[in-house]
Amino acid sequence: MRLASVPSGPVAASARKPWLDHWLDTVSDLADLTESHPMMDAVIDEIDGRMIRVGDRWLADFASCNYLGFDLDREIIEAVPAYLDAWGTHPSWSRLLGSPVLYEQIEERLTALVGADDALVLPTITHIHMSVIPLLAASGTIFLDQRAHKTIYDGCQVARSRGAAVRRFRFEDPDHLDELLTAERDPTRLVCMDGVNSMTGNAPDLRAFAAVARKHGALLYVDDAHGFGVIGERRPDETSPYGARGNSVVRHTGETYDNLVLVGGFSKSYSSLLAFIACPPEVKQLLKVAAPPYLYSGPSPVASLATVLAGMDVNETRGDAMRAELWRLTDRVLQALDRLGVHTPNRSGFPIVEIPLRDHRRIDTVGRMLFERGVYVTLAAYPLVPKHEVGFRLQVTAANTDAEIDVAIAAIAELAERSELCEAGMPPVEQAA
Ligand SMILES: Cc1ncc(COP(=O)(O)O)c(C=O)c1O
Repeated sequence: MRLASVPSGPVAASARKPWLDHWLDTVSDLADLTESHPMMDAVIDEIDGRMIRVGDRWLADFASCNYLGFDLDREIIEAVPAYLDAWGTHPSWSRLLGSPVLYEQIEERLTALVGADDALVLPTITHIHMSVIPLLAASGTIFLDQRAHKTIYDGCQVARSRGAAVRRFRFEDPDHLDELLTAERDPTRLVCMDGVNSMTGNAPDLRAFAAVARKHGALLYVDDAHGFGVIGERRPDETSPYGARGNSVVRHTGETYDNLVLVGGFSKSYSSLLAFIACPPEVKQLLKVAAPPYLYSGPSPVASLATVLAGMDVNETRGDAMRAELWRLTDRVLQALDRLGVHTPNRSGFPIVEIPLRDHRRIDTVGRMLFERGVYVTLAAYPLVPKHEVGFRLQVTAANTDAEIDVAIAAIAELAERSELCEAGMPPVEQAA
C-alpha cells in the first residue's frame, strides 16, 4: 500500500483518522516521493545479472547490498536444492524448541571466521537490537552514537522503556564518549554504535572507541551489518585494502572481543536472511533463555541457511578475489568523483558511495534523471536523512560490470555539469529549516 499525503482541504470529521493523519503528515515528503517517483518503492519485474527491469526500462542496479555478488553465484544457487531435499523449505520451530543442525554448523564456522569466543544467530539484526540491547543495558545507562542506525536507536528505545537511561555521543568522537562516561556514575554502561557506517561507508576508529569503553568498564556493542563480508583482517598477502576473509571491523582494525560484542548480518554480503551476535558463551546462554526472538520468533528459511553455508565455502575459496574486484570497481567510481571534483563522504574505498545534492529540493528531479539514464540508486530523501544530507547512494557489488560503472559515471558527470552536486572539499552544511 502506498501512503497518500494528508489532503490539504477541509476533511469531513468522519473521514479523519487521527492515528494515521499524524504519521502521514510527519512523512509527507517521503510519501510524495514514493507516490510518484520511479526509483522509490519500485516493482522490479526481472533481473539479468546486475541489470534490473522496471516496467519497460532496463537499469544498472546500484541499490542492492549484495556486495560480493553471492545472490548470483552459480555455486551457491546450485547448493540450495540439496538442503531443501534434506530439510524441506522451512524448519518452523522457534529456536528454543529445536534448530536444524545447520544452525550449529553456521555458528561454529562463524565463530572461527570472526575469531570470537562464540556466536548466536537469529533471523535479522533488527531482532537482535530489539531484544539484546535491552538485556545488556538492563536498568543501566546506554551511550548511543548520535548517528547510529535507526534499528540500534529503536533497540535503545525499547531498553529505555524497560528502565535504561540513554545518552548520545557525537558521531566519530571518542573524546565526547570519554567525557560522558567520565561524568556517569551508573556502573552498568553499554556503548552502542555502528561499524562501517551505512551512509558514509567509513569505519569508525574502533580502537579508540574500544579503549575508551574499556577504560570506563563499559561493554561496547558494534553493529557491522555492512562491514561483515567486505572488510577483514589485514595481511601481507591481502588482495585489496579491504583486507582478507571479510571477517568484519573488529578483525580489520586489529581489535579484540575483550568487552566487545559484534553484531552482523548475512543479508548484505551473504545475500541471505540471517544475522548474528558474536559474544562470550555466557552471554549466548543468557540469550538462549531470555532473548524473545530465540524463544518466540519464526526462524530463517532453509534456503537462507543453505546460502549462508555455501557462501562460507565460496568466501573461503574465492572471497578474496571477489573483494579485489569489488575494490577495483568501487575505486573507478571514487576516482571519477575525484576527477569531477564532486564531494562524497566516503574516505575508505568501501562500496557505499553517498553523493549529496547541492539543493535537497532537487531530489525528485535528480532521481528521475538517473532513472532516465538507466542508473538505479538508493535515494536518500528527507526525512530518512537530514535535509543537508539529501542525495543518492551507489552501492557497488562485485557482480557489477565495467559497462554498468561507465553508465553510472556518465550520469554523475552530467549531474556535476548541471551543478546539482556538491563540490569536493565543500561538503553540504546544515541549514536552518
Ligand atoms: C547498520 C544496519 N544495521 C541493521 C540493519 C538491519 O538489518 P536486518 O535487515 O538484518 O534487520 C541495516 C539494514 O540496512 C543496517 O544498515
